[in-house]
Amino acid sequence: MRIQFATSNKGKAFEVAALLAPLGHEVVQLHEPYPEPQADTLQEVVASGLEWLAGKVEGTVMIDDSGLFIDALKGFPGVFSAHAYKTIGCDGILRLMEGAEERRARFECCAGLMIEGKCWLFTGESEGEITGESRGKGGFGFDPIFLPSGMSQTFAELPVDVKNRVSHRGRAFSALAQFLGVP
Ligand code: IMP
Repeated sequence: MRIQFATSNKGKAFEVAALLAPLGHEVVQLHEPYPEPQADTLQEVVASGLEWLAGKVEGTVMIDDSGLFIDALKGFPGVFSAHAYKTIGCDGILRLMEGAEERRARFECCAGLMIEGKCWLFTGESEGEITGESRGKGGFGFDPIFLPSGMSQTFAELPVDVKNRVSHRGRAFSALAQFLGVP
């Protein structure tokens, strides 16, 4: 199936295409910005994005809203992850975490799917911890400072197929793929 993925984030587009292409889906990155309201949950942002796109884009469309939730920072940056990345980045998060023994964190992703105006949401989580320093050159965003549970490499050190197996996005979009079934 040909699926348009509305995102300006090349890293997200690469990961989702790597996951869905082997299942027989063609993922086309769609540069159609949609307003992201300041909301308490990723789900609200995705539902509002799909509603906005409904009037503008034909065919099958997906969107993704994600965030990093750090226990010691009471869930920050969470729904403010995009802004936090742009302003303080990985180094800023490492500074906020300096000396913290409690380093547990999780990524969450909400994937939205719209087919002919009907919408579905799928969620995925990945538990892990914040490293003491940045490691790795792959991926994007906070990848270099996130060590997924049970692994010795950060998201930025993992090949895309391995990150997809354990990541919040990989899990959310695998659920979406399962819903779509075989094309
Ligand atoms: P949004 O989903 O576009 O609102 O952006 C969320 C922000 O969280 C991104 O700008 C990234 O900085 C971060 N983020 C989301 N998913 C990931 C990921 O898989 N790896 C690293 N950072 C991520």
